[in-house]
Amino acid sequence: MSEANFQPRVFSGIQPSGNLTLGNYLGALRRFVDMQNDENPALYCIVDLHAITVWQEPDALAMATRELTAAYVACGIDPERSILFNQSQVPAHSQLAWIFNCVARIGWINRMTQFKDKAGKNRENASLGLYAYPALMAADILVYHATHVPVGEDQKQHVELTRDIAAKFNHDFGLDFFPMPEPVIEGAATRVMSLRDGTKKMSKSDPSDMSRINMTDDADAIAQKIRKARTDPEALPSELKGLDDRPEARNLVNIYAALAGTQPQDVLTEYGGQQFSTFKPALADLAVEHLSPIAGRMSELMADPAEIDRILAQGADRAAEIAEPIIDRTYEITGMILKRKS
Ligand code: AMP
Ligand code: TRP
Repeated sequence: MSEANFQPRVFSGIQPSGNLTLGNYLGALRRFVDMQNDENPALYCIVDLHAITVWQEPDALAMATRELTAAYVACGIDPERSILFNQSQVPAHSQLAWIFNCVARIGWINRMTQFKDKAGKNRENASLGLYAYPALMAADILVYHATHVPVGEDQKQHVELTRDIAAKFNHDFGLDFFPMPEPVIEGAATRVMSLRDGTKKMSKSDPSDMSRINMTDDADAIAQKIRKARTDPEALPSELKGLDDRPEARNLVNIYAALAGTQPQDVLTEYGGQQFSTFKPALADLAVEHLSPIAGRMSELMADPAEIDRILAQGADRAAEIAEPIIDRTYEITGMILKRKS
């Protein structure tokens, strides 16, 4: 039985847990800007409840939440056109997450690679929240009946689990209540790799700062990191297949293409036969040209934390307006008795 006619709606989230990297920018933030929509505003969330699945110093967490808000705005998210807010201000996320804890099966959660990576060897000591993380993420998306989820490649498995949860809920209660959201993984840089090891993801948690470009790095730091990025001694090839087995070279070409808004083949057409000593400075210039204005805008915004808090509060009110009827209906479907609304 169908109860809903699902409008296309975009939702995505980023954790406020430290430095944002070029991977976050190319794999997520920049693509969020292009997916803003006037008819059905996109929701962009700072997932502070997800961040505390591993220990966060409270002051640092609040600071990271404001910084990430500034980064969204500096990249071009318009807080009037889109709904920009932090997760903890909208209780419906946590409410739906509990229901989904009771829908998701332990066997499904045991297959999640992010938990295995983050818990590492010391699994017994990981928080229960880290384990249940995917059910909260499913709630983030489905509490808005969102249909499209722009993310980097590493999040695909979580969006697939969200679909499994939606399908099981719909099946168990015999309703077509939740949509099947789709991951939107597009562009030349859905997986930006470490500058020190082309087989590892660029990550804010890598112990080596030289492995990543932070969105707040200054021009000198960016140029130095790209100059020192690991490469091989060969010149760049003219064809894509020449990048097979050259993960570091491929990564730099992909980054260039994503920044320039072209395809990797276009980059090779221009730079094929050239040495890294020519290509790296060109890439550094391009990265600085994109990131420097964003870093500048971020620090301007950070100078007025009250304005940032106002943006978040306004976003949370708009988000709650969409989420509340959906959580109420979910409670009703599952048999919870609700207080009558006056
Ligand atoms: P996180 O920083 O892990 O909360 O990730 C926030 C968003 O950035 C998610 O959509 C990720 O898929 C994306 N992301 C993080 N690191 C990378 C990377 N190295 N390459 C591409 N996308 C990334
Ligand atoms: N799990 C995502 C990450 O680590 C962050 C996230 C939480 C998210 N909830 C989401 C992404 C909902 C997309 C949609 O990057």
